[in-house]
Amino acid sequence: MAVEHDKIGIWSEVKLAIIKKYAAAYTTVMEAQRRDRFPRMRWFYIDAYAGSGHHVSKTRGDLVEGSPLIALNTKPAFHEYHFIDSDTGRAAELRKEAGDRDDVFTYSENCNTVLLSKVFPRADYSQYKRALCLLDPYNIDLTWEVIATAGTARFD
Ligand SMILES: C[S@@+](CC[C@H](N)C(=O)[O-])C[C@H]1O[C@@H](n2cnc3c(N)ncnc32)[C@H](O)[C@@H]1O
Repeated sequence: MAVEHDKIGIWSEVKLAIIKKYAAAYTTVMEAQRRDRFPRMRWFYIDAYAGSGHHVSKTRGDLVEGSPLIALNTKPAFHEYHFIDSDTGRAAELRKEAGDRDDVFTYSENCNTVLLSKVFPRADYSQYKRALCLLDPYNIDLTWEVIATAGTARFD
């Protein structure tokens, strides 16, 4: 059964526009650093509250790309994408979007556990791995441990 898309207002659309610009600026800077200084540099996109990939605009009624699809379409590209949504239907939608790409990892789990156990350890700063991590919950269910770990790991 298809998931019901969230209906989003103008502020969420503005948020998505900011994410789009920020992600493209981020990968452009990383690409320049890789080219000029650190050939081993790799950068990941982590979306801890990813959603299904699409929303419906309250103002126009049309489909709007959510943050995971914005990331997948960002140029220059990220080297890995980590999408987390605790809702199994939404995670299944994201898996469909990714198809058989081996650079996309989708988790249907609580981000507070999977970020610490599986995702953050892949972005090892000493191995020239970097990550843009989006934390976009409906409410405040993010643990302090996640924020502290991300901060200590020198995530962007
Ligand atoms: C605000 S929506 C995400 C919107 C998305 N970032 C975007 O901009 O397109 C929040 C999502 O977080 C998911 N969610 C809620 N609690 C979660 C948790 N503890 N871990 C992972 N996902 C969670 C919900 O199922 C929902 O799809």
